[in-house]
Amino acid sequence: MALRDKASDSSADSVDGRGRTIRLENLTKTFNNGQVVAAEDIDLEVRSDEFAVLLGPSGCGKTTTLRCISGLDIPDGGRILIGDETVTEAKPKDRNLAFVFQRISLYPHMSVRENMRFGLDMKTDLTKDEKNTRVEESAEMLGISELLDRKPADLSGGQQQRVSIGRAMVMEPAAFLLDEPFSALDANLRDQMQTEIKRLHRNLETAMVFVTHDQEEAMSLGDKIVIMNDGRIQQVGSPYEIYDEPTNRFVAEFIGSPSTNMIDCVVERQDGEVTLSNETFSLSLPEEMADDLDSNDGETVTLGVRPENINPVPDGLFEAEITLIEPQGSLDTVFLTSDDLDIRALLEKGLVESENTTTGVDFSPEDAWLFGRDGERLL
Ligand SMILES: Nc1ncnc2c1ncn2[C@@H]1O[C@H](COP(=O)(O)OP(=O)(O)OP(=O)(O)O)[C@@H](O)[C@H]1O
Ligand SMILES: [Mg+2]
Repeated sequence: MALRDKASDSSADSVDGRGRTIRLENLTKTFNNGQVVAAEDIDLEVRSDEFAVLLGPSGCGKTTTLRCISGLDIPDGGRILIGDETVTEAKPKDRNLAFVFQRISLYPHMSVRENMRFGLDMKTDLTKDEKNTRVEESAEMLGISELLDRKPADLSGGQQQRVSIGRAMVMEPAAFLLDEPFSALDANLRDQMQTEIKRLHRNLETAMVFVTHDQEEAMSLGDKIVIMNDGRIQQVGSPYEIYDEPTNRFVAEFIGSPSTNMIDCVVERQDGEVTLSNETFSLSLPEEMADDLDSNDGETVTLGVRPENINPVPDGLFEAEITLIEPQGSLDTVFLTSDDLDIRALLEKGLVESENTTTGVDFSPEDAWLFGRDGERLL
């Protein structure tokens, strides 16, 4: 494997794997003469041993970012590096990256084997035996060896998508770019493909950048989750970090199901004590939280509390009516209403019994986050 001189820092390319590190520096891409800012100031590094997932709502710039990495779009500003090489304006074919889309596009008149070998025929001068070996090894890893002589029309959606991945794998790319590759598959098959692609990543040691708007898919796949909104990165972290320590209100609400409860309160300061109040309750902050909070008396802040941290108790912070119970298997989502406040609790199955009764509701301030009016995290 011919790797160039590598930077001596810790982010240098993995020597064992054949993948390369991808780096985006201040990447910006606009459309319509700058009127649509699809990606703005994106800074990101994905090492060859990392599985990165770009996650965010529709239109947040995931595909645009991926297309810039692939070379299908050229950014307006910033830099893209693959390994030590700057490829910002290089043609897609000169980047040696594999792109797998949601829409599967296999050649219908070719067998699986021919589809998988096609790129090798076009772009390499490997011998016939070398090509066959690559195709067969990749097919083996993807569990499609017995399908090599079939035509795409005779395959299921999941099998076709495996062939698409195999077609990319044989090229031994520097990294894989996958844009919602499993979103057209049914739920069971999608689960199975997720497990397989993650295993494949561990075996290949090649960077993967995977786009999805599905948080569950992102959490189960990603080592590094990149949350985007409005063309900007909101947070980069492990699945645990983004779940436990969201940096802003957007991330807190976007991650987790049911979504985090957001409860507006007014800060009341008296004799060094801080209370967060609204029409429904008054919550005293523990001393260390009160000390850390910079907000002024009378300022509006938002408490973020995960439904899993809301507890039904006899004497709680406030009384609420149970308006709806949605069974989730081992858990129930319970909808609670008190005055103007509507919140959701995720409770053990059967913990509260019937709709249209009341319960005490409690949560601990230590289990809550506090956000300012600009959505940034205060505590
Ligand atoms: N070729 C284009 N011309 C004009 N605007 C574009 C173009 N491609 C994307 N956009 C706009 O850029 C923004 C980001 O689009 P992008 O396709 O990257 O979003 P996405 O996060 O992939 O969304 P989705 O989850 O719906 O696929 C959107 O506002 C979109 O309308
Ligand atoms: Mg997209």
